[in-house]
Amino acid sequence: DKGNHRHFMLKEIYEQPVVVAQTLGSYLRPLEGRVSLPVPEFDLAGIRRVTIVACGTSYYAGMVAKYWIERFARVPVEIDVASEFRYRAPVLEEGGLALFVSQSGETADTLAALRHAREGGQKIAVVVNVPTSTMAREADLLLPTHAGPEIGVASTKAFTCQLAVLAAFAVNLARDKGRLSAEEERRIVRHLAEAPAAINAALAYDDAIEAMAGSIAQARDVLYLGRGPDYPLALEGALKLKEISYIHAEGYAAGEMKHGPIALIDEHVPVIVLAPSGPLFEKTISNMHEVQARGGKVVLISDYDGIAEAGDDCLATITMPKVHPLIAPIVYAIPVQLLAYHVAVVKGTDVDQPRNLAKSVTVE
Ligand code: F6R
Repeated sequence: DKGNHRHFMLKEIYEQPVVVAQTLGSYLRPLEGRVSLPVPEFDLAGIRRVTIVACGTSYYAGMVAKYWIERFARVPVEIDVASEFRYRAPVLEEGGLALFVSQSGETADTLAALRHAREGGQKIAVVVNVPTSTMAREADLLLPTHAGPEIGVASTKAFTCQLAVLAAFAVNLARDKGRLSAEEERRIVRHLAEAPAAINAALAYDDAIEAMAGSIAQARDVLYLGRGPDYPLALEGALKLKEISYIHAEGYAAGEMKHGPIALIDEHVPVIVLAPSGPLFEKTISNMHEVQARGGKVVLISDYDGIAEAGDDCLATITMPKVHPLIAPIVYAIPVQLLAYHVAVVKGTDVDQPRNLAKSVTVE
């Protein structure tokens, strides 16, 4: 049932404050200022390396997790798409944890990669939305997302719930490895607990995003730029737009622009820049200026301070609530989803059932 919403995708976008809160609720103990995961059958503190494997949007959630795990737990993280991981003779050493991220828990390549990692002696952790799925059954450490059934083929609420779980996982691993003080953990838990309200505040910009969708819908190509943990969000934004509006889009690490893609820039290519205030802001904005100097039309997604500082010469700006850089990827997912949604509606595509795509990809 779509309720008052025109499409399942929009309904699911709007469910995010609630389902992210539900998901966080099962991993955070806000009163104690602690994260608590289900206790695995193995010793998390003994993990020396994490290998993340997933496909599509779930892979981008995994990319964000790599930044978090390396930053907080100081454990090296490797990440690969499942269809590559299986066939490249990955080196799997003792003390390795393989972490699989999947909404459905049935994606054929991810499942095969899981079995391959198990044969290679890895402990298996699974972040999955369908608790009865095959991957859930085969996990040593099951980390469910509580997004509820996702009907829209383009993943939205499953993604932000995956991020919520992965953030909790990174913090728990960091604590177990002795890399996080109780005080730091308390601070991070407080920031994570702010995510649902921040998502809610981001949803308030729906009308503004709808109003600019018409101009993006005319484009043949769109670029998305981000840095650090917001770089995967650029990839996710481009994937979402491609999937449902059929407009060609690419996501790039903002600093990679001048190594090639900047050649594409002219006044016909909108460039969506994801730049929350924080340590990487100035660097991203200087890449944005390189785009503008070549006539590129920029949509800047930032917070009030960021837009006050850099929003002047943009085609449009979208104001996000000011959040800690840790939760920015969770919050910035919202405008990225809404933009793809409204552009697709302008183009009149079948938003919930895009051509050529299936909800669960059970063939290789
Ligand atoms: C994109 C999308 C796909 C899935 C991918 C993996 O909107 O939904 O890219 O993320 O097919 O599916 P799961 O997460 O079920 O393994």
